[in-house]
Amino acid sequence: MFPKNKILVFSTIVAFIIITSNACKKTKFEDLELNNEMLSGGMQTVFDEGNGAYGHSFANMSAQHERVHEIGDIAFEQTFVSNPAPLNGGLGPIYNNVSCISCHIGDGRGKAPEVGQPISSILFRISQSNRVDMHNGPLGVIGYGDQIQNRSVAGSVKEADIEISYIEKTFQFDDGTPYSLRFPTYTLTNMYMPITSSYDLSPRVASPVFGLGLLEAVSEQDILANADEFDMNNDGISGKANYVWNVLENKTTLGRFGWKANQPTVMQQSAGAINSDMGLTSFVFPQENSFGQIQYDHLDDDVEVSDSLMHAIAFYIKTLAVPARRNITDPKVARGKQLFIESNCSACHLPTLKTAVNVAFPALSNQTIRPYTDLLLHDMGAELADNRPDFLANGYEWRTPPLWGIGLTYKVNGHTNFLHDGRARNLMEAVMWHGGEAEASKNKVKSLNKADREALIKFLESL
Ligand code: HEC
Ligand code: HEC
Repeated sequence: MFPKNKILVFSTIVAFIIITSNACKKTKFEDLELNNEMLSGGMQTVFDEGNGAYGHSFANMSAQHERVHEIGDIAFEQTFVSNPAPLNGGLGPIYNNVSCISCHIGDGRGKAPEVGQPISSILFRISQSNRVDMHNGPLGVIGYGDQIQNRSVAGSVKEADIEISYIEKTFQFDDGTPYSLRFPTYTLTNMYMPITSSYDLSPRVASPVFGLGLLEAVSEQDILANADEFDMNNDGISGKANYVWNVLENKTTLGRFGWKANQPTVMQQSAGAINSDMGLTSFVFPQENSFGQIQYDHLDDDVEVSDSLMHAIAFYIKTLAVPARRNITDPKVARGKQLFIESNCSACHLPTLKTAVNVAFPALSNQTIRPYTDLLLHDMGAELADNRPDFLANGYEWRTPPLWGIGLTYKVNGHTNFLHDGRARNLMEAVMWHGGEAEASKNKVKSLNKADREALIKFLESL
């Protein structure tokens, strides 16, 4: 989406050298710590605070890797059309959107629509209640599969529309200052055929896609080291790994991606999007998403996205760099960081992780990264629950989302809607929705005075 700016890549290296050498001169360990803290993506950090901040490739890639990244970038932005078409055909017959970028705007996040607007960058997963498929995953609903496709090509019918409405409720911080949260309701309308079984519906906005190669590079062992499923340390916070079906490995493996850690790899998540969100086939999912349904068009005898293009798309996402932090020496930000730790936010939003040694791909190897996630599932309480299990994630559990780059959401995406369904209209609302294992953290924030509440938000905005 954004011109590859070699100057930026260069400046990343220079800035890294300057800040580390400055810190060394002072020989003060804390300064080095602070400087390192800016490097959210380790060596794959990019110094851009503008609207293109999420869209930069790793620095120092070989010309060949850079080329594959670019091919993937073009495909990520490409609008697909229905067959017959000389180029970029294969869309549908039913789908959610026409390109990756139309949901992951600027490689960032989607948005819940305003009331009465059509849905665009949010999608709805659906499955039969109290039943699982042969891999212990969600069992699709007859005629609909496991996702509602609300658009279709000519000659096919969309599955349904979704209406969103909100009820506003007012609450108070402990100092009496009011705040307000909007409680969403989702209703399926214009359904093309009735659903006879009882079903669960899970709303999900498109999440940011930068830095995912680094998250994929963290070893399973390191992720499991932070799990505490039965809360043995008694801090009220458990943290549980999801294990999900891995199509290419033909076995169950650790889940890392998606709002419920419901996808094992960037490749499977991307090919799943190609298939379910856009109706295109690839070597990972060679069958149309409408298979077995009325509008199945039998056009899956040949894959619509070539193997090399599928690899390029996954490679593009794996090699998106992470924006550096800003304003870290601002005293308010420093105070906010202290409150983030004191409120135990850092128990789930883990400040640092380390990527494993990777001789084959040094760019991902052995980096200290600052994603502010543990990649684990947590019970977030009844109000955030979608009540739709997804492999080992129950209806109350969500994966801790990374907070890196979150302060640039407005600049890149033009809004500040957060959480899995975009219900929070700003960072403070996102925090005040926390419940379940995070109830105590939320209550701590509720008890803060105005200056400290602002400091906490300033810290989040510096990420
Ligand atoms: C209709 C909107 C939509 C389209 C189109 C779409 N995505 Fe997504 N994407 C989502 C949603 C929603 C999620 C979260 C999914 C979940 O929680 O199950 C997501 C998640 C992802 C993730 C994982 C992010 C994370 O942090 O876990 C990746 C990678 C991704 N999409 C890649 C792609 C690619 C590649 C394409 C194009 C082939 C694409 N997406 C097209 C909506 C979309
Ligand atoms: C028990 C684990 C846990 C704790 C403790 C916790 N969080 Fe979260 N946080 C989560 C999960 C899980 C989500 C996603 C919930 C959802 O989308 O429904 C989340 C979402 C967020 C988001 C929105 C992210 C996004 O991409 O939309 C912000 C901001 C956030 N947390 C900040 C905080 C702050 C600040 C604190 C401390 C006051 C905190 N969290 C404490 C687990 C936790």
